[in-house]
Amino acid sequence: MYFPAYRPRRLRKNDNFRRMIRETKLSVDDLVYPLFVVSGKGVKKPINSMPGQFQMSMDHLVKEVQRAKDLGIPAVLLFGIPEKKDETASGAFIKDGIIQQAVRRIKDRAPDIAVITDVCLCEYTSHGHCGMIEKGDVDNDTTIEVLGETAVSHAKAGADMVAPSAMMDGQVGAIREALDDAGYESLPIMAYSAKYASCFYGPFREAAESAPKFGDRKTYQMDPANGDEAIREMILDVEEGADIIMVKPALPYLDIIRRAREEFDLPIAAYNVSGEFAMIKAAANMGWLDGEKAMMESLLSIKRAGADIMITYFAPEAAEMLQK
Ligand code: PBG
Repeated sequence: MYFPAYRPRRLRKNDNFRRMIRETKLSVDDLVYPLFVVSGKGVKKPINSMPGQFQMSMDHLVKEVQRAKDLGIPAVLLFGIPEKKDETASGAFIKDGIIQQAVRRIKDRAPDIAVITDVCLCEYTSHGHCGMIEKGDVDNDTTIEVLGETAVSHAKAGADMVAPSAMMDGQVGAIREALDDAGYESLPIMAYSAKYASCFYGPFREAAESAPKFGDRKTYQMDPANGDEAIREMILDVEEGADIIMVKPALPYLDIIRRAREEFDLPIAAYNVSGEFAMIKAAANMGWLDGEKAMMESLLSIKRAGADIMITYFAPEAAEMLQK
């Protein structure tokens, strides 16, 4: 069918037609809201590079989680900033670690929202790397043991799902085994499967105080140039027992999200990361972009690419827009 027989503009003529043929629709059900928790009381410290986002102590955190729940958001993703960091990331897996306490508090005060925990060590190590350092690099096999222990400690605190983000080989398998051994065989894993060594995590590292003190993350996170390797990473995670596979960041990697959608039958998550959030906020702040429209168009693109779940700092704002 070619012009003039076919005229695509016919069905763009009015909003009713446009609604009828719309292929992708955003829903609040798609959203996961990441939050940063710190110790103390009454703390709500703005994160400079992420306008509207805060490091919150538990009292404020619980209120924000309740607000998310009231907006219809199905899940939050928690990141903890411990009081003390050490070489061995002990704050990551102790019973009264910041995350373990936060999960218990949320489950107690705002139980009707899913709590997902990030399972990584970079917020807890004094050197800021995502695992144990041996001979100047992150040691894979000791790290995955610690990640397993960390996931179990989150499960014991009441987490509904764990999300390993350290990009260690075999981490999903090690966590699955540790959870199963501890009796948590029904706790799902959302695996950060294709996580790239991206500059778009910059604002997050301010928020989570987790920038590496030496070197970078290129020996464990993926090279942004690689697409086929992302598929290999995802195959590994699926084989090891991932329930949801994730691509991260989202907007610069829409092709990877699309490939994941086509190759796998599992739910696909995409992480619309801190730098993607900061870019839109900054441009909107300068008056250079319509921030709300840019937010909704970005989320729509991520969903159109094939994501079922979008992890985004925009979650409450987007949920509000979707209610209108
Ligand atoms: C922890 C982790 C990071 C992010 C999520 N989990 C930072 C990193 O890998 O350096 C980034 C999230 C964001 O930028 O919003 N490893």
